[in-house]
Amino acid sequence: MRMVVANWKMNHLRRDAEAFCATLLASYRPVDGVVAAIAPPFPLIPVVSRLVAGSGVRVYAQNAHAEAKGAYTGEVSMAMAMDAGCTGVLLGHSERRQYNGETEATLLPKVKAAAAQGLMPMLCVGETLAQRDANETLEVLRGQLAILAQAPVSPIAVAYEPVWAIGTGRVATVEQIAEVHAFIRKELATLMGAPGAQVPILYGGSVTPENFAEILKVPHVAGGLVGGASLDPAKYLKLLEIASL
Ligand code: 13P
Repeated sequence: MRMVVANWKMNHLRRDAEAFCATLLASYRPVDGVVAAIAPPFPLIPVVSRLVAGSGVRVYAQNAHAEAKGAYTGEVSMAMAMDAGCTGVLLGHSERRQYNGETEATLLPKVKAAAAQGLMPMLCVGETLAQRDANETLEVLRGQLAILAQAPVSPIAVAYEPVWAIGTGRVATVEQIAEVHAFIRKELATLMGAPGAQVPILYGGSVTPENFAEILKVPHVAGGLVGGASLDPAKYLKLLEIASL
């Protein structure tokens, strides 16, 4: 199974989302074994959900809170995300780790809450450039994945996004992706047992229609988590087409 997830981050207004979905749906045809998902900003989740209903395109949240409800001003619960049309939720994106203080301590209850709600968590992991340069990449990833020993939920997906490759145009080499994805696969088996073999592991970081085919050939790469290129419906369609080959 392959997945191409469009992470819109904090981009697009309603008219942009409507135009995107119109272009996407004019050409999109579901293909067996290829999951298409869009993660819009919160206010656009109901808009996109309504527009893609019945098309096979899934909608994910970019984050959600671990608590079911209550006095958490500015937050959105897993149930609210689901109620708005989401079937999955990105958790631990490096931008949330960097700007919102997301840590393993906050992510463990979120992974559990998502699974309890029936939202598929997509746990994002990745090292900074300083960590890679210091040869700490695998250690950092081991630490980020470790919460899955306490939350061995299924279904779940993992996205490997080296921080230095996000939005920089600097894609990881196939050798780097191969090393890390093989490592994550092994870690998942250790942490989760047999179900760990089924967890899709996506790559993210400057994915484009030009480099995606090469990336998909790397063992244990089950798709892409795409930022910049996913804002253009023509490019997103091209990525879906590449994933279906
Ligand atoms: P870019 O594709 O813009 O590098 O972003 C990757 C990413 O962070 C997706 O979550």
